[in-house]
Amino acid sequence: MTTTIESRGLHMAQLWIKLAVLYLLVGVVFGMALAASRHFEFIPVHAHINLLGWASMALAGVIYHLFPRAGGSRLGLWHFWLHNLALPVAMLSLFFTLAGHPQLEKLAIAASAVIVLGVALFTINLFVNIHVQD
Ligand code: HEM
Ligand code: HEM
Repeated sequence: MTTTIESRGLHMAQLWIKLAVLYLLVGVVFGMALAASRHFEFIPVHAHINLLGWASMALAGVIYHLFPRAGGSRLGLWHFWLHNLALPVAMLSLFFTLAGHPQLEKLAIAASAVIVLGVALFTINLFVNIHVQD
């Protein structure tokens, strides 16, 4: 029988995957744009939109689909909100830092630290909420 936590986990998994593919779209368009304009200083932004946005989030979605009890847990919800609120801030502040606004570097670092915190909760979540009987 599917519990409330598990059905919430399946719902969260879909959300992770749909948001991830939006990052893929933004990431590849941005990759084309930086290549066409020869603005290679923005490669780290392109790389991390694709890797923290598309790759990490799609993988989280697939994992949470496989293990919905983890996806729908409180740790799963904290992971979702920390990652999804901090990543756009991190990418925009990194972009503008590299575009010549060094005062935004501290914001990029702070937002990155929030992402790292989210990943730490993801790690704990998978250890706590994935069991053999899943
Ligand atoms: C059509 C899609 C894409 C375009 C046009 C594109 C374009 C580029 C360009 C022009 C660079 C700089 C290469 C250089 O001169 O060093 C680059 C680097 C990079 N791209 Fe993409 N990219 C695309 C898709 C992706 C995807 C889907 C990912 C990850 C899932 C990705 C990850 C990276 C990474 C990690 C780097 C940095 C590589 C390094 O440090 O040498 N890219 N991309
Ligand atoms: C909050 C998390 C992360 C932080 C703070 C971070 C930070 C950094 C920094 C400072 C660089 C050097 C950029 C430069 O050369 O100017 C870098 C490069 C790189 N990172 Fe990350 N990273 C994070 C997450 C990840 C993840 C999850 C992946 C892979 C799934 C990844 C893959 C890469 C790759 C491939 C490069 C080399 C391409 C580039 O120069 O941008 N990073 N990262």
